[in-house]
Amino acid sequence: MNLEELNKIAIKMAAPGKGILAADESTGTIQKRFDAIGVANTEDNRRDYREMLFRAGKTMREHISGVILFDETIRQKAKDGTSLVALIEAAGSIPGIKVDAGAKPLAGAPNETITEGLDGLRERFVAYHALGARFAKWRGVYEIAQGNPSHNAIHANAHALARYAALAQENGIVPIVEPELLMDGDHGIEACETVTEWILKEVFQELFYAGVKLEGMILKPNMIVPGKKCAKQNSVDEVAERTVRVLKRCVPGAVPGIAFLSGGQSDVEATAHLSAMNALGKLPWPLTFSYGRALQAAPQKAWSGKTENVAAGQAAFAHRARMNSLAALGKWTPAEEKKAS
Ligand code: 13P
Repeated sequence: MNLEELNKIAIKMAAPGKGILAADESTGTIQKRFDAIGVANTEDNRRDYREMLFRAGKTMREHISGVILFDETIRQKAKDGTSLVALIEAAGSIPGIKVDAGAKPLAGAPNETITEGLDGLRERFVAYHALGARFAKWRGVYEIAQGNPSHNAIHANAHALARYAALAQENGIVPIVEPELLMDGDHGIEACETVTEWILKEVFQELFYAGVKLEGMILKPNMIVPGKKCAKQNSVDEVAERTVRVLKRCVPGAVPGIAFLSGGQSDVEATAHLSAMNALGKLPWPLTFSYGRALQAAPQKAWSGKTENVAAGQAAFAHRARMNSLAALGKWTPAEEKKAS
């Protein structure tokens, strides 16, 4: 393992004012996104949509440090035959790959999941590296409901994340370690804080046991927010303060960057929360975005599967990327949001 090289990549992924575009929706997940805009989920449409994003040159160059791809996309070619990976690289952005095989029911743990995909992962990393991937993503999923998550689920997912991360580093690929506590449910922000702290403690313990070098990874956590159905929705400042508090308790300063998932927050909420955290003053690590929905909902709607809407889709992507770029610097304001929209 070349830790210096991994560290360089990780630092670039969390470069000031830049963040990650999570465009790694599986074919099933993109189906839901396309259903919402009335677009058929065909290979060509998936290609056209992602090509639109990756060809937004100025946006990609200025705001997007890396793009997480799905297996199909890392092998796909643009309409003119250029590989989509080459489009990303041409914009100075780093191609990454989602390598987990999804969350499956965890035996002996009702309503809980374990993320699968470790079998054959070493060989897949070798192949993905040859295709241009320099970082990867693996997501563990937990939910607050009926006494869950259990220690069994928290431990099993942390262990899988650590095995994945060690294999990624062995193959010259920076692991994004993503433990996601879902926003589903009516629990309060306090429960999210308590459980997230537990999950992160367990994850870093397992990373240590597996020999994962913290300097060569990126953490992708959820923010500390109340459940979507909770009657009390806390202020932006409270979310920012609680999130930073938990991260300071759990994430060593050796980690080169933390890139949040949006998890179902609205576009503007995800931006406002990130900016408020970065405005809190000097932190041990750069905090940025690795958003899927919060970066793509607007461009998807503007595009709606029509060639004549490509410019509008790219404009919507440019706007959200710029807003999140400001947030990564702690400089976003509601006025910026209005000014540009
Ligand atoms: P969201 O930002 O839509 O939560 O997606 C991020 C992601 O990569 C989830 O694994």
